Amino acid sequence: MNRRPKLTVCVSILLLTVFALSNINAQTPEPYKATLAIRLDQPRSVINRNIYGQFAEHLGRLIYDGTWVGENSPIPNTRGIRNDVIAALKELRVPVLRWPGGCFADEYHWRDGIGPRDKRPRRPNSSWGGVDTNAFGTHEFLDLCEIIGAEAYINGNVGSGTPQEMMEWIEYMTSDTDSDLANLRRRNGRDKPWKIPFFAVGNETWGCGGNMRPEFYADVYKQYATFIKNHSGNKIQKLASGGYDENYNWTEVLMAQAAKQMDGLSLHYYTLPTGKWDKKGSATQFGEQEWHATLARTLRMDQYIQKHSAIMDKYDPEKRVGLMVDEWGTWYDSEPGPDMGALYQQNTLRDAIVAGINLNIFHKHADRVRMTNIAQMTNVLQAMLLTDKDKLVLTPTYHVFRMYRVHQGATSIPVELSAPEYKLGDASVPSLSVSASRDAEGRVHVSVVNLDANRSAEITATLSGGAFKTVTGEVLTAPAVNAMNTFERPNTLKPEPFKNYKLAGSQISVNVPSKSVVVLELR
Ligand code: AHR
Repeated sequence: MNRRPKLTVCVSILLLTVFALSNINAQTPEPYKATLAIRLDQPRSVINRNIYGQFAEHLGRLIYDGTWVGENSPIPNTRGIRNDVIAALKELRVPVLRWPGGCFADEYHWRDGIGPRDKRPRRPNSSWGGVDTNAFGTHEFLDLCEIIGAEAYINGNVGSGTPQEMMEWIEYMTSDTDSDLANLRRRNGRDKPWKIPFFAVGNETWGCGGNMRPEFYADVYKQYATFIKNHSGNKIQKLASGGYDENYNWTEVLMAQAAKQMDGLSLHYYTLPTGKWDKKGSATQFGEQEWHATLARTLRMDQYIQKHSAIMDKYDPEKRVGLMVDEWGTWYDSEPGPDMGALYQQNTLRDAIVAGINLNIFHKHADRVRMTNIAQMTNVLQAMLLTDKDKLVLTPTYHVFRMYRVHQGATSIPVELSAPEYKLGDASVPSLSVSASRDAEGRVHVSVVNLDANRSAEITATLSGGAFKTVTGEVLTAPAVNAMNTFERPNTLKPEPFKNYKLAGSQISVNVPSKSVVVLELR
């Protein structure tokens, strides 16, 4: 059989695809012009560090392989936790880590995950498949938090648990008394109680957490929240399971009926390129249409936060209750090829742009948004880290979190932007997303995302209320919209020093490449 013609066709298709993906527009188009006013004279709310939170669910290869390898693994580890993962997370200054789910939270029974590891029960993970050995439990999770310097956010089980089980878990972790549960913790190797600042009553209780109506959940929430007790000086913020996307009625009912008993209400929003759960779109095989559509969809986060916040304002005008966007990020179809575990997806320059846009949105709403947790930390959805046996890759999303960490705890500064739209056919999105903040040392950081896949931006920025002497910066970009880091080529995308600026007192001109994320530091 002559296979040659077939091979020629395949090679041509491949070359065309590569060309299409790496040359959305082969000629370098004219840059577009934009103006930016950075209002240092109008400082706003502090950007809560916890906006940079992470999420680690017992799902796919996130915990097992991607975080926990066990003390006897040939992969270098600290008490069973991968050293490469620890080092990468420390570099991000992860402020808070959510665990054990997600949907898994409402099937998790904490007693399965304490005591000698060889005696722990093996249980089916009915949400995500496989069997959980429970080798990674409460002690291992809280050890990880201490090692990387993150606060613990534990998501309790409402769907299949009881208020008593929840109450006892909290006592086990946080009590310094002579109670049986505190002594059990000591016998299991931990003398000092842990601090648990955040505890949620169930997850997605409108779906995998119990398929409840908001009215029913509001009552359940109040019942469970009553038994979240503060022991030995620990002070828990109680979080209620919130709605999603445009599910405004959930927020309305929860705020009307239970705002007094909660410190935070969650919100989940995932970016799907197509918006369709049965065919979400590829993580890596896409062109400008999918690029544009994905960015248009991720920008909806702004309106969702605005509308959920407006409802919260009616019941809580002092903004005491935080809006916790404790699941967000891109969600694509599973990649063809070897199975890398449930919800494993590659991460490209497009994900870096999505991360930058969302973080800028969260900064803008820092008065109400107190925590967010990108889904998820390792090997699942829009991950920071990908692992394969002893190898580890830092994703483009990781690099954005590293570049943006300068905003953690800084004061948000309003920006006024005037720029043309980035149009594709009938669809149009803003071409730029910008946020700014001032830190305790007086340094100003400006994060600029150029959504335009083809055109660079010539931005003239004016700083009202400050003049600066020096600028430094970093840029993350690549020639192809779907550029990614792989185990074979882990450094295709990494931040580079940014030099395309001119500073003159309170005015700065910058030339921001197409499809890039830039963070500037002004001193
Ligand atoms: O992050 C993956 C899943 O998405 C979570 O388990 C669930 O809460 C959401 O539906």
